[in-house]
Amino acid sequence: MTQVTNESAAQKQVFLADVVQGLSQPIKKLQCKYFYDERGSQLFDQICQLDEYYLTRTEQSIMDQFAGEIADQLGIGVMLVEFGSGSSTKTQVLLRHLNQPVAYVPLDISEEHLLKTAEGLRIQFPDIEILPVVADFTKGFTLPVSKKRPSHAAVFFPGSTIGNFEPDAAKSTLTLIAELLGQDGGLLIGIDLQKDPSIIHAAYNDASGVTEQFNLNLLHRVNNELGADFDIKQFEHLANYNEQLGRIEIYVVSKCNQVVTLGEHTFTFKTNERIFTEYSHKYTIEGFAKLAADSGFVLRKHWTDENQMFAVLHLVHQPIKN
Ligand code: AVI
Repeated sequence: MTQVTNESAAQKQVFLADVVQGLSQPIKKLQCKYFYDERGSQLFDQICQLDEYYLTRTEQSIMDQFAGEIADQLGIGVMLVEFGSGSSTKTQVLLRHLNQPVAYVPLDISEEHLLKTAEGLRIQFPDIEILPVVADFTKGFTLPVSKKRPSHAAVFFPGSTIGNFEPDAAKSTLTLIAELLGQDGGLLIGIDLQKDPSIIHAAYNDASGVTEQFNLNLLHRVNNELGADFDIKQFEHLANYNEQLGRIEIYVVSKCNQVVTLGEHTFTFKTNERIFTEYSHKYTIEGFAKLAADSGFVLRKHWTDENQMFAVLHLVHQPIKN
């Protein structure tokens, strides 16, 4: 219990330091990883159900349609490691199709949810060893040892989460995955594809305003957890698609001149001043393959929906040896 208390006190200190640092920049910034408190996670689940937000259902349809092919591509006797596994919903169809998988390693930061999901999976898949790992994958971790020796490991990184990383961070994450997997390890990754900008724009500016609530929830979180006094009504959501850079750029915008207090810190906002909250990069298959090649990955195969909205890519870690 004391350990949990210390841990959350330490997490709060890091959150505070990140917020103060972010809001002290010439272009104010709050990190998108802080979207996901309980309310933020609920709002994100709602986003995934929106008509405009095509990403989740399209990726799921690709997984459903091509599960057999994807499983064959991943090979026999794999240890499947899922980054940010949540409820492992997208994985279940894959686990049902994999050829003699040795183990499934769901990896998430939310311990309680992870362990509960693992219990359910053990009942559903009694022949697959379920080895949950509580970790922040961006910080690195080691793979658990399974009872049976796997032929190789493969990371499953669905949901276009890689799109929320800036290119340098995306590269570091791919390098971290490459190091974790070693030679011949596999990566099965979901990416959102570049397409008609109006479709992308609508996905982040839904008519019912759920994405706006999701974005503004960051300010609620800073108020509730750190005691700031953001007047949320005086801020609004902004999400624009930058066609040149192939990314959605999301901000919270101040509607007036105002001052926000957080402990001994004060932050001044001018009318229309923005706080940057998130990028969501949209790739081409070739563009992503090129990015991944820098970390030693070779694209083996990819699957898309009939409208080429989203893609699931299978890459193998095969660095060129000097
Ligand atoms: C989690 N991630 C892939 C979402 C996305 O589409 O970039 C986060 C999100 N932000 C606003 N809507 C959804």
